[in-house]
Amino acid sequence: MAGPALPMDDRDGVIWYNGNLVPWREAKAHVLIHSLHYGNSVFEGERIYNGKVFKLREHSERLHKSANMLAYELPYSVEELDRATELVVKENKLDSGYVRPLAWRGAEVIGVSAIGTKVHVMIAAFPWGAYYGQKAIKLVTSRWKRPSPESSPAGSKAAGLYIICTLAKDEALAAGVQDALMHDYKGRLSEATGANLFLAINGELHTPTTETILNGITRQTVMELARKRGIKVVEREIWPDELAKASEVFLTGTAVEVQPVSAIDKQEFEVGPITQQMIADYSALVRS
Ligand SMILES: Cc1ncc(COP(=O)(O)O)c(C=O)c1O
Repeated sequence: MAGPALPMDDRDGVIWYNGNLVPWREAKAHVLIHSLHYGNSVFEGERIYNGKVFKLREHSERLHKSANMLAYELPYSVEELDRATELVVKENKLDSGYVRPLAWRGAEVIGVSAIGTKVHVMIAAFPWGAYYGQKAIKLVTSRWKRPSPESSPAGSKAAGLYIICTLAKDEALAAGVQDALMHDYKGRLSEATGANLFLAINGELHTPTTETILNGITRQTVMELARKRGIKVVEREIWPDELAKASEVFLTGTAVEVQPVSAIDKQEFEVGPITQQMIADYSALVRS
């Protein structure tokens, strides 16, 4: 977000917290909660357009799936999460902005095992503008690799998996570019620190398979939009030397939307017709 922002714990408004709306500054958790020590909270990121959360159902379902992949159940159904999200958006009077649901395991026990912890859920909603605030962004290749699915539950939006994303992102910012592109444990292209990757090659869209990445809801939406336009979409393993064949590169994600990439390391790309079409189609769909 551009410019100085209000601290996240010192704002007006309300947060949905375990079934109740509580004043923003009172939505607190204890220092001994299990998830703070062992990284097993799960979360979502959603965008509000014209007062409505885009693909709300899909996000609430993914929060459940993420928790299940970490071997726990949420105490609220998908339907209850949807209603709670709508309530918190309305109570905070948000016409546009971002929603951050989070589920975590409580402070009943300490130790690696989480058996015996209670599961808590909160949903916060707040204003949030463009993620990068730039027409096209530059990426550097990160030294951090997305782990093998045997080493991490890659499809889960679990806090612990973001350790390498935060390291990669902050190293990219320190290098003077906007974000990092990660390779996976085999050296294939995977994704950016909070967004999926697309390459335009000979008029087709190519995107990495979901083995080591988060299968973004925006990624799935953009693949559908491209196919509707008659653009062939290919999900496959993609190796770094193939960037030389790409005329256009863009990222997709709830926060970044459809974001053109002008360079990855020394390789440059144009903001070309496929990227522009996908920006227009996505922008129209989220506001429809
Ligand atoms: C690591 C990562 N990959 C991809 C995405 C894009 O996912 P979505 O389109 O569901 O927001 C996100 C954002 O949630 C992310 O954090």
